[in-house]
This record gives sequence, structure tokens and C-alpha cells, in this order.
Amino acid sequence: MTKLLLSLHVLAAIIAIGPVTVAASMFPAAARRSTGTDRDRTTLRLLHRICRVYALFGVAVPVFGLATASSLGVLTDAWLLVSIALTLIAAVLLGVVILPGQSKVLADEPFPPARLGMLTGIFNLLWAVVVILMIVRPGSTTGA
Ligand code: HEM
Repeated sequence: MTKLLLSLHVLAAIIAIGPVTVAASMFPAAARRSTGTDRDRTTLRLLHRICRVYALFGVAVPVFGLATASSLGVLTDAWLLVSIALTLIAAVLLGVVILPGQSKVLADEPFPPARLGMLTGIFNLLWAVVVILMIVRPGSTTGA
């Protein structure tokens, strides 16, 4: 059972977090290049849609992650608690700042692409740290 849950957890991370990371990273540069033509707007709308839709799929990552953790009995391990906190911060950053920021750019409201780029960089870094924690598991008593 644990193997199935862990497989679904990693699969969800690849399929959902991957596209959000790529599309969110492409958005600021596309916004900077945009001259307001229909083609440019279609590109920006598509990138924003990928971020939004795959962010919803992304909910499966912590769901299967928590199920895996409870099946392994590691729910209170320090590395896991830090991962959960970082995952929460990344989710809030995406839902409360990055996605609304992209919407503002799409609506021609002021939101500097450079700021969006910086926030997206922090967002990507958070995933990188979480993945390293998932693999290195410092302080794990389960014998990584
Ligand atoms: C609430 C958030 C999360 C929880 C509770 C969680 C939980 C877990 C658990 C319990 C494992 C199994 C570790 C083991 O084999 O002992 C695991 C593995 C893994 N997780 Fe997460 N996870 C979370 C978020 C994430 C995120 C956001 C990503 C990727 C962006 C991710 C990627 C991975 C990967 C790649 C593995 C496989 C590592 C390995 O088994 O060597 N996890 N996770």
C-alpha cells in the first residue's frame, strides 16, 4: 500500500508541479515580450491557464504525501514537518500572489513582470528544497 501511495505521490508531483513550474517560469518573459497582439495575449492566457489548472491537480501531491507519511508512520518527523510547511508556503505564494499577479498582467493592470519573475523563482526554489528534503530526509528515524 505504501508503495502505491508513494508512486501516486511522486507521479502527481511530476505531472502537476512540473507544468506549473515551467509555465509560471515562462510567463514573466512572455509578458515582457508581449506587444499586446492577439497572439501574445493567447500565449499569456494559455500559460496562465496551465498554471491554474495544474495547480488544482497539484493538491493531489500533499494528499498522497500525507497518506504515504501516515502509512510509513513518519508524520511527525522533522524533515516532513519542514516539507509540509514549505509546501504550504509555496501553495499560498502560487494561489495568493503569483496567479492573481498573472491575472493582473492579463487584465493590463499594473504588475511588473520582474516582480512576477522573482516570486516565481522563489516558488521554484521551494519545490527544489522540498524534493531534496524528500530524498535526503535529514534526521529521519526510518533509515533513509
Ligand atoms: C504536504 C507535503 C508533502 C508530504 C506530506 C510528503 C510526504 C512524502 C513521504 C512520506 C515520502 C516517502 C519518503 C520515504 O520513502 O521514506 C515522500 C517522498 C517523495 N516526495 Fe513528498 N511529500 C510532500 C510534498 C512533496 C512535494 C511538493 C514534492 C515535489 C515537488 C514531493 C516529492 C517527493 C518525491 C520525489 C519523493 C520520493 C523520494 C524517495 O522516496 O526517495 N513531495 N513524500
